[in-house]
Amino acid sequence: MFGVGSFVIGAKNRRYVRIPPENSHRWHRYTAGTFIPVVVTATRPLTRNAFAPSDATIDMAKNDADPFSEKLRVPEALTFDDVLLRPMESRVEPDSADVSTRVSKHVELNIPILSAAMDTVTEADMAIGMAREGGLGVLHRNMDEEQMAASIQHVKRADELVISRENVVTASPSQSVQEVDEMMEREGVSGAPVVDEEDTVLGIISGTDIRPYLEVGEADDVREAMTDEVVTAPEDVGAREALELMYDHKIERVPIVAEGKGAGKLVGLVTMQGILQRREHENAVRDENDRLQVGAAVGPFEEERAVIADEAGVDVLFIDCAHAHNLNVLDAAEAITETVEADVVVGNIGTRAAAEAAVEFADGLKVGIGPGSICTTRVVTGAGMPQITAVAEVADVASQHDVPVIADGGIRYSGDAIKAIAAGADAVMLGSYFAGTHEAPGRVITMNGKKYKQYRGMGSVGAMQSGGGERYLKEETDEEFVPEGVEAATPYKGTLASELHQLVGGMQSGMGYVGAETIPGFKQRAEFVKVSAAGQTEGHPHDVMITDEAPNYSPNE
Ligand code: XMP
Repeated sequence: MFGVGSFVIGAKNRRYVRIPPENSHRWHRYTAGTFIPVVVTATRPLTRNAFAPSDATIDMAKNDADPFSEKLRVPEALTFDDVLLRPMESRVEPDSADVSTRVSKHVELNIPILSAAMDTVTEADMAIGMAREGGLGVLHRNMDEEQMAASIQHVKRADELVISRENVVTASPSQSVQEVDEMMEREGVSGAPVVDEEDTVLGIISGTDIRPYLEVGEADDVREAMTDEVVTAPEDVGAREALELMYDHKIERVPIVAEGKGAGKLVGLVTMQGILQRREHENAVRDENDRLQVGAAVGPFEEERAVIADEAGVDVLFIDCAHAHNLNVLDAAEAITETVEADVVVGNIGTRAAAEAAVEFADGLKVGIGPGSICTTRVVTGAGMPQITAVAEVADVASQHDVPVIADGGIRYSGDAIKAIAAGADAVMLGSYFAGTHEAPGRVITMNGKKYKQYRGMGSVGAMQSGGGERYLKEETDEEFVPEGVEAATPYKGTLASELHQLVGGMQSGMGYVGAETIPGFKQRAEFVKVSAAGQTEGHPHDVMITDEAPNYSPNE
């Protein structure tokens, strides 16, 4: 249909044809059999940006007889409460359902759960907790780049078997006992190897060595107080071996020293606490160097932050934007994928068209336009997409390219989470569910005798004032923000581990009802039924007064 040598871009019904010669900037719009000339003034090679919607590119295909009434013949879009999983024949016991999954092309998780990149949800403590339980914490970006790099390294270092040299707190033999006591308190450690100027291990000092010196000999040198018969281990020591050494010698830390050239120099430290913590978290997700995995949010136009986070060792970067189908955002996101080593998840999107625009370069797609508990995007802007339909549309495209999908926002119950997976997601991201846990940033507040933690949208005035405006493509210098989120409080819930236990347990039960043993199997097998308003009422406790609250159900959610 188009002449030889012509070059075509654009989706169906919106074809743009470049008339030769090849480097010409003269394009014609081709719609339903007609060419409409379009003047393109771009001097750089054309990207998908060249045809960002403008007055010149109004879709003529809609010029039917009743162009406006036609708009009211609308497709149906569904969300969590509109559907239920059809129960099916099953031999799957919930506890045996395998919930491992992929969050991006190269990063696997043991549970399909992510904590949201929000400043009242995920900082290092939450990310450590999530990774220990097998999920992924995504650090928010309302912190400067250095803080983000430090947080990434903090997560990476937690639970390391051998703490590497640069992170070991050491003492020198000529320091006073008091100085070392203060240093250990400041650094939050209870013992330190003592090294000379060449970094050779001379001894080790701990609280037990220091205690007899307090008040009476605080000015004495560390060399007087330290244990000088120090038990060390070589670099290739395993966890079991290190534990046996500690047991045999009744000690809690073993310096790792070099052998051969530079023999006796400190190269790391193994601690009893570190080993026990690793044992407690057998389901933890670790990278190829055995360190916990972590994600971080970057703005689409924050290439420098992306590079800094990448160099700090982040496993997955999340392009953090409320509307990633903005073509400038997609171009910038693609540039980031070409710059960093980490996987890059692109979001948020909510339609098939957006998925098609991003799927070629993204390592994962994140879905959610306005479903979040603190979001006002839909009421403020009038735009949005009910989440089950949004996930299914994106997953239709992503599954053709083997790109994982994350359903982000709107999940109140474990049932919502597993419905999102049935609609095609590989993992789910939650904010409000985790904001009330001990591991979330912020302090516990008490109101009317009840405990709460703060939870606010990243598009709320407070969060935007702290630097979150770019997510909503707003200038940070705006004096009066147009918020797309609210600031709220959420009940304090206790530990993350117990919340995750309920969430994952409920999802596994859903897999049991459908008879699927794995997440990919469940995605294929699960079917939905549509629920009427009466059906929704029937699905919640009704005609009773709840006397004892269940750990996984609150009528107010
Ligand atoms: P839940 O429902 O889990 O949602 O609390 C968390 C997700 O909501 C998104 N988010 C926002 N969306 N305005 C919005 O429209 C906001 O202020 C806002 N803050 C967060 C985000 O995708 C998050 O993961």
